[in-house]
Amino acid sequence: MSNCQVFGILMMSMSDKTKQLYIETYGCQMNMADTEVVLSVLNGAGYTPTRDASAADVILVNTCSVRDNAEARVKQRISELKTHKRNNPDVLIGVLGCMAERLRTELIDKNNVVDMVVGPDEYRKLPALIDDAYAGQRGIAVKLSRVENYDDIIPLRTEGISAWVSVMRGCDKFCTFCVVPFTRGRERSRTLKNVVEEVHMLSAQGFKEVTLLGQNVNSYHDGESDFADLLDAVAGVDSAVRIRYMTSHPQDMSDKLIETMAKHHNICKYVHLPVQSGSNRILKLMNRTYTIEQYLGLMDKIKTSLPGVSFSTDIMAGFPTETTEDHQMTIDVLKHVKYDGAYMFKYSPRENTKAWEMGDDVPEESKMERLNEIITLQEEISLELNRSEIGKTVDVLVERDSSRSPDDLLGRTDTNKKTLFPRGNASVAEYRKVKIERATAHTLFGTLVNEN
Ligand code: 5AD
Ligand code: SF4
Repeated sequence: MSNCQVFGILMMSMSDKTKQLYIETYGCQMNMADTEVVLSVLNGAGYTPTRDASAADVILVNTCSVRDNAEARVKQRISELKTHKRNNPDVLIGVLGCMAERLRTELIDKNNVVDMVVGPDEYRKLPALIDDAYAGQRGIAVKLSRVENYDDIIPLRTEGISAWVSVMRGCDKFCTFCVVPFTRGRERSRTLKNVVEEVHMLSAQGFKEVTLLGQNVNSYHDGESDFADLLDAVAGVDSAVRIRYMTSHPQDMSDKLIETMAKHHNICKYVHLPVQSGSNRILKLMNRTYTIEQYLGLMDKIKTSLPGVSFSTDIMAGFPTETTEDHQMTIDVLKHVKYDGAYMFKYSPRENTKAWEMGDDVPEESKMERLNEIITLQEEISLELNRSEIGKTVDVLVERDSSRSPDDLLGRTDTNKKTLFPRGNASVAEYRKVKIERATAHTLFGTLVNEN
């Protein structure tokens, strides 16, 4: 999911029980959410997180396979972890997630670092696999399941006021470039009832924002309820809790879903709608199931129903056979739509996908040039749109202290724009009005509007 764009690292840790666990998380928000499931499973088995890898008894790396550079970075990291084994031969190292699923025994054979390889549907087995590894038996568990959705596991969330809630897993879309249907398996959804219960609990715990997650979240269906029903029910739990969701496929963006977004003020007016390319020929080769005209029509419909809505997207440069004309069509779409933000990638061939068989015929240099052109244009557009916020007063949910200055707080608008302002009398978890005075392509800067 798009969200795969963020090649973030989440380092989790707990303190001083006997067995200490260190996890690094790479890739998308689904992986961040999965890490919280893993923490919960292992916490139940007596492990506590630590932020210090050198203090850990078990080191886990939750990995991403979506592009080759994501895998390369993780492989590099795994080889760095050798040091911990050298210092303490009892340390166990496990690889989780999409790379575990894709590379399987290769991860164990190729280096003597890895003790466990565990795919995304096998996290319940982690305590047993760790015990086996302590007994000297290296373990591989990579079966994909048609039913596993960890519905009964309450993720172990450790900080912040925003919670990820994974509502469905897997993907059945089979975009021809994408490895996800192979690494995360078939689509399956949690029950509406359990998701709503979890959101009640989060609200009671003081969380102020919930992001419903799925590789393809708007194709959610639990047998009775679709994603619009789920969103409606979740938004109804607590009107002071903001609801977001990602990632959507244009094919599943129903009228009912758009109406539901319009109905609740606490559903953020922000839609991440990956377009990938502006060329119908390329969209067809990608198996995206829409034409660019249908996509643009959908955006118009959303804009009409949700005034002030903001959009972001995923774009790929250099898909097999992409010509300069195809690329120009992507540029034209960017200029026409004016997305608030975009995650932009160079096509990366993935083994076993349909696109792999198409070859990788766009020269690296052209891919790079096209990607750079896309990035430069999008930066200009994001800056222009952010500058148009100057002078306006926006509602911001205060999320945390700024990492750059202790005097500032950081929050986000309903439309997902990062907003920085001097803290004044504001606190984390409050909704505050901020007057925007300055903007970059990625951040709004303002001052608090104090209401009497
Ligand atoms: N190469 C480049 N980008 C990819 N994505 C998915 N697979 C690939 C690939 N093989 C991008 C898509 C998707 C996002 C999550 O990652 O744009 O929407
Ligand atoms: Fe998203 Fe398509 Fe990959 Fe599914 S196959 S995760 S819809 S990019």
